[in-house]
Amino acid sequence: MASSHDIVEKNIGLMAVLILVAISFGGLVEIVPLFFQKETTQPVTGMKPLTALQMEGRDIYIREGCHVCHTQMIRPLRAETERYGHYSVAGESVWEFPFLWGSKRTGPDLARVGGRYSDDWQRVHLINPRDVVPESNMPGYPWLEHNILTGELTSRKLQAFATLGVPYTEDQIRNAPFEVQGKTELDALVAYLQQLGTVIKSRRE
Ligand code: HEC
Repeated sequence: MASSHDIVEKNIGLMAVLILVAISFGGLVEIVPLFFQKETTQPVTGMKPLTALQMEGRDIYIREGCHVCHTQMIRPLRAETERYGHYSVAGESVWEFPFLWGSKRTGPDLARVGGRYSDDWQRVHLINPRDVVPESNMPGYPWLEHNILTGELTSRKLQAFATLGVPYTEDQIRNAPFEVQGKTELDALVAYLQQLGTVIKSRRE
């Protein structure tokens, strides 16, 4: 008489279904508990939502494709923490939609670049990286200092994040356009960069 094992081995359809069940179960066991762990669902202590200007900067970061060359994810390995500071923790990303962890490092990781350089350094570097890092092969973004923000969509951007659970107040949402109007895209991007990773200070600071 055929054992149940023989039946499974001789029936590819049944085997495929059982494999799927096994993999799904393994996935569930790994993933579901994360939804209930404070560590992965709560913001780290002291974290504040991005200001209106930083939020505009974040969108420029996405538009210009900075995440294609830069990660924002410091792994818990000695070589990384020595260079970039404390490794990234999940609580720093709970208000990120979408997250910008990235996967390719043509340039250095930026998860804790906030405060590493002055605003002026960042401005010069973004307009023409070679003015401060002669061997750099990062492209320049000279148009950012000429593009003026209108603030037209800023309230809606904050509102969208509020809908996703980021604790913006009514006031912050209402005043968002006035915070960014007249500022340049360069101001916004630098404001965004300067807050990156500052809630958890880098080890060397
Ligand atoms: C083609 C790949 C590439 C793109 C795209 C790119 N970068 Fe870079 N970036 C680099 C490289 C390479 C370096 C290292 C050399 C240097 O400092 O210029 C760097 C360095 C940096 C640094 C200094 C980091 C440090 O710790 O020294 C910052 C900040 C930065 N980039 C921000 C940006 C921003 C913001 C954008 C998008 C507007 C961007 N980069 C787009 C390649 C890139």
